[in-house]
Amino acid sequence: MALTFLFLTLFVLFAGAAAISESHTIRFDNQCGKGTPQLIIGGRVVSNGSDYTSQGPASSGIAYLQTGSCLFNGENCAIVEFTLGNPTCAGCGSSTDISLIAPHQLNVPTGFSYFNGCDGVGATCTTPECNAAFFNPNDNQVQVACQSNNVGLLISFCPNGEATPSSPSSSPTYRQRRCQLRAAQLQVLASKSLFLSDHRSSSLRLP
Ligand SMILES: *[C@@H]1O[C@H](CO)[C@@H](O)[C@H](O)[C@H]1NC(C)=O
Repeated sequence: MALTFLFLTLFVLFAGAAAISESHTIRFDNQCGKGTPQLIIGGRVVSNGSDYTSQGPASSGIAYLQTGSCLFNGENCAIVEFTLGNPTCAGCGSSTDISLIAPHQLNVPTGFSYFNGCDGVGATCTTPECNAAFFNPNDNQVQVACQSNNVGLLISFCPNGEATPSSPSSSPTYRQRRCQLRAAQLQVLASKSLFLSDHRSSSLRLP
């Protein structure tokens, strides 16, 4: 009787230790020279850029680089979505992806890769229309899985140093940006000529 109790106690202790020993570290590498990484798990910010280590699985987390216009759940910005967990059945370990499903959009080049298992396996998105991100909820092929225990996740912003997503000249976003620039230049020109004409008319009034 006492022996059974002892074994039962030991079993509970070991099972508890095994559950507690699962952990996943999420790390940021921000080469953009701006912005604040945001890591959100369970509806609250658990990191502003420093390493975060979960006790047990890290389920349904998102991360993005707050560059000014991102809302709490990363709306207007690119998000990395992940569930990190030790596989308890074949194929049900960790899964990570980049989402650009509207209202998400690429604010800075964004990528991720696993470490401490599945090293270097991941995805990167450097253009607003990259093929490594979700644009529709059924783009499941962009999900990157890992079946290693206690795998970590490195999330990179501007992995090649450039702060604005590069974009082919044919893309509407690029053209829109050119138009905005042109409009801003015209506005500057207009205000200058207004200033000149004001200046001229006031000098005309001088005796
Ligand atoms: C993140 O930054 C905000 C604003 O400065 C602060 O209130 C919060 O405590 C920080 N969170 C963490 C997990 O460091």
